[in-house]
Amino acid sequence: MEYKKVAIVTGSYGAIGKSIAESIAKNNYKVTLVGRNRIKLKQVAKDIINITGNTDVDYSVVDLSRKQEIISFSESRKSPLHLLINNAATTPRSRKETPEGIEMQFATNVLGYFWMIKYLHPFMEGLDDARIVNVASYWAGGLDLNDVESKKGVYNNDDVYKNSKQANRMLTKAFAEELKDKNISVLACHPGDVRSKLSTDLGHGGWESPEQGADTPVWCAIAEELKGVTGKYYEHKSERKCRFSEDKNSVNKLYEICEGY
Ligand SMILES: NC(=O)c1ccc[n+]([C@@H]2O[C@H](COP(=O)([O-])OP(=O)(O)OC[C@H]3O[C@@H](n4cnc5c(N)ncnc54)[C@H](OP(=O)(O)O)[C@@H]3O)[C@@H](O)[C@H]2O)c1
Repeated sequence: MEYKKVAIVTGSYGAIGKSIAESIAKNNYKVTLVGRNRIKLKQVAKDIINITGNTDVDYSVVDLSRKQEIISFSESRKSPLHLLINNAATTPRSRKETPEGIEMQFATNVLGYFWMIKYLHPFMEGLDDARIVNVASYWAGGLDLNDVESKKGVYNNDDVYKNSKQANRMLTKAFAEELKDKNISVLACHPGDVRSKLSTDLGHGGWESPEQGADTPVWCAIAEELKGVTGKYYEHKSERKCRFSEDKNSVNKLYEICEGY
């Protein structure tokens, strides 16, 4: 069987990411799983091949909190890319920084998405239906553009997480504007409330299955009716107004801040 479209799914051995990657593989994409643990990536690739029968599933080890690793990953790519799903995220309970000294949630959840789009979108230009899906959340807000690394006050992982998910939604709008002339759609969504390492670290738990959590991101990725739609935010496969992305000045300012890293 020929798999014509090519996809990348980040955080693909996480609760929701694995289910997203499996669904995308079922839809006949060639899928590259991205994560930082080689053993887990290898196992998930094997599982997805066994479940779906799609043998075009491979993986790349990339620490998404580190710009240089994303640049090296992008430089190693050769084929066109139809679909990028930014899904990986973290929420350490105590403040952590990358070796470069960037607060870990901002580095992974915000800059990781930003750099993946920045360095991979050239592989998406000129295709018939190229899409970027940013897995964000309704659990979002409180972002201070003068303190994006949450240096002020006492670190609270839930607050910093909400900042990062607000940023995902704002940057969706920024990239949608930037990439619209290149025919690349950029969408954001809330996946669902699923028990995972991340939701446990937030103290939230979750009541939906990973498959339910994957439903909206996968729909954003492949739904025919969304072809050419860009800059929108969805929950449960319905468009929702996003107050964060309406403030153009703040959206542009956040984009400039991310460019500075
Ligand atoms: N679960 C929910 O209820 C819920 C609700 C709303 C939104 N979301 C969003 O859904 C997405 C998936 O979350 P989840 O609940 O499935 O979480 P999860 O099971 O904890 O999965 C997160 C994934 O991200 C990966 N990751 C973290 N830091 C990374 C890094 N530096 N480099 C590469 N990979 C990294 C993790 O790998 P490691 O194990 O190696 O860290 C893991 O595979 C996130 O964007 C989250 O914000 C989830």
